[in-house]
Amino acid sequence: MSISMYAAVVRSLDSAPKYELFDTPEPSGTNEVLVDVLAAGLHPRVRSQASGSHYTSTGELPLIPGIDGVGRLPNGQLVYFVAFDTSLGTFAKKAVVDLRRSVPLPEGVDPVLIAAAMNPAMSSWVALRRRVDFQPGQKVLVLGATGNAGQMAVQIGKLLGASQVIGAGRDRDRLNSLSSLGADVIVSLSGDPEVAAKRLGEAASEVDIVIDYLWGKPAEFAMISMLTQRRDRSRALTWIQIGSVAGATAAVPSAALRSANFQVLGCGQGSVPTAGYVAEFPALIHAIADGRLKVNAVPVPLSKVEEVWNTPSYSGQRVVFVPTI
Ligand SMILES: NC(=O)c1ccc[n+]([C@@H]2O[C@H](COP(=O)([O-])OP(=O)(O)OC[C@H]3O[C@@H](n4cnc5c(N)ncnc54)[C@H](OP(=O)(O)O)[C@@H]3O)[C@@H](O)[C@H]2O)c1
Repeated sequence: MSISMYAAVVRSLDSAPKYELFDTPEPSGTNEVLVDVLAAGLHPRVRSQASGSHYTSTGELPLIPGIDGVGRLPNGQLVYFVAFDTSLGTFAKKAVVDLRRSVPLPEGVDPVLIAAAMNPAMSSWVALRRRVDFQPGQKVLVLGATGNAGQMAVQIGKLLGASQVIGAGRDRDRLNSLSSLGADVIVSLSGDPEVAAKRLGEAASEVDIVIDYLWGKPAEFAMISMLTQRRDRSRALTWIQIGSVAGATAAVPSAALRSANFQVLGCGQGSVPTAGYVAEFPALIHAIADGRLKVNAVPVPLSKVEEVWNTPSYSGQRVVFVPTI
C-alpha cells in the first residue's frame, strides 16, 4: 500500500495547483533517495512547467510542479537539488533526489535563501562561466535587470569581475535599487520601445556581453541601436539569450551578423549539460550563503499554493514554498 503525503498537484494545465494528498514517490536505483523538502522556489520555469508551455513539457498529468529545492537526506545532511522527474517535482513534503543532481549545503545556511536564489542566479553564473570566455574587466549589459534573475545578473557580473555593469529594465523603483547591487549605469526601458532602445544604445554600445532576459521587440530594437552606435564593430559583442519575458521570437537582421563581430547564443537546460550546472553549484551556493549575492525571498506555506499561484504582487521577489510550516 502506498503512503500519502501533502503536495501541490496540477490536474489541469489551465488551473492552479491544489494542495492535496498524493502518493509519496519511491526511489529506485542506487543514486536515488527520498528527502524531506524544506524549501522550493516558485520560478517562472515552474509556472511554464505547470502550464505545459515549457520546451521540455510532456503534457503528462497529474503533476507536482517544482524544479529544484532544498531537502534533508535521511542522514540529516541538507542538500540543494535539481529535480529530474518532470511530473514528480519539489512542491511536496517529500521528493526523490538523484544524488548526482544534488550538492551538500554548508552548516547553518538558510534553506529559503538557497531555494530562492539558485535558479535566478545560475542563469547568469553558468552563462558567464560556461557559455562564453568571460574575462575580468569586460563590460556587461543586463537586459531586463529588474526581475530576480536580472538583479542576480547585475551582482554576478560584478562578482566575476566586470569593469562595468549596465542594468536596463522597466520598473523605476527596482531599477534605482540596482545601484546598491553594483550596477554602474541604469537605463530605463519605459515608454516608446524605439526611443528606449536609442537610449540604451547610447549607454551600452561599447559592452562586450549582453545577458538578455527579455528577447522579443526590446531585444530586436536594442541590437540594432547598439550595433549602429558601436564605435568599432569588429570588436566582439556576444549576446546571451536567457529569458523571453517580452516575446518568444525576435527578428535578427542579417546585416547585423554580417556587419559586426556579433554572436547570438543561448544558455539554459540543454545548451549546458547537467553536469556542467552541478559543477558550478558549490561556488554559487557559497556566494549566496556568505551574503555576496542578495535575494529577496518570501517564504510561504505550501498549503497556500493555490492562493499564491495567481497573485501578481510578488514582482521582483521570489516566493519560496515551505512544506513544513
Ligand atoms: N535559461 C535559464 O537558465 C534561466 C534561468 C532562470 C530564469 N530564466 C528566465 O529568465 C526570465 C526572467 O526570470 P526571473 O526569475 O527574473 O523572473 P521574474 O523575477 O518574474 O522577473 C521577470 C521580470 O521581467 C520584467 N518584464 C516582463 N516583461 C517585460 C518587458 N516586456 N520589458 C521589460 N521587462 C519586462 C518584469 O520587470 P518589470 O517589473 O520591470 O517590468 C519582471 O520583474 C524568465 O523568462 C525565466 O524563465 C532562464
